[in-house]
Amino acid sequence: MGKITIKDKTFKPYISAEELQTSISKVANEINTHYIGKSPIFIGVLNGSFMFMSDLLKEINLQCMVSFVKLASYEGTTTTGKVNELIGLNEDIEGQDIILVEDIVDTGNTLVKLYEILQNKKVNSIKIASLLFKPEAYHKPYPIDYIGKEIPNAFVLGYGLDYDGYGRNLSSIYVLDEQ
Ligand code: IMP
Repeated sequence: MGKITIKDKTFKPYISAEELQTSISKVANEINTHYIGKSPIFIGVLNGSFMFMSDLLKEINLQCMVSFVKLASYEGTTTTGKVNELIGLNEDIEGQDIILVEDIVDTGNTLVKLYEILQNKKVNSIKIASLLFKPEAYHKPYPIDYIGKEIPNAFVLGYGLDYDGYGRNLSSIYVLDEQ
């Protein structure tokens, strides 16, 4: 695995496909154990979570549903300013156990908005599963329940994560080469 260049930036190999699969198996085992006898709904946050969701769900042995959402932000007509809307969720999730599936939690801003929207839908529980987590950047109150791997504050690419829309198709993770 060599370096790759996307537009103006160069990235170097960081987490191999094998290591990713090991981290994903660990997360799947935790979820399988914690949800025995339950039937959760996995909700993936697009676009970044599609690869993680796919590999994670192959190792989930629960009876479960899968859905994907996008967070759309637009200027509201009231004085409250920005309004966040969840698009793509067609299932009735009232009373359900939700597992939010994220590619990466960085500042957690996205997560907090999603969490609050879902809470308002009177769900039974919400847990968060993220392939990658940047603990140094995260100062929000919600715990990240299932973490594939913690990473330092660096910009990463691949396995669903993009730089300016590109690189999502890479099967391993690369990190920005600062040199
Ligand atoms: P947050 O709201 O700061 O936690 O980040 C939300 C989104 O930003 C993630 O779901 C990613 O799509 C994107 N993001 C955050 N950090 C990175 C990164 O290092 N590389 C690529 N995308 C990132």
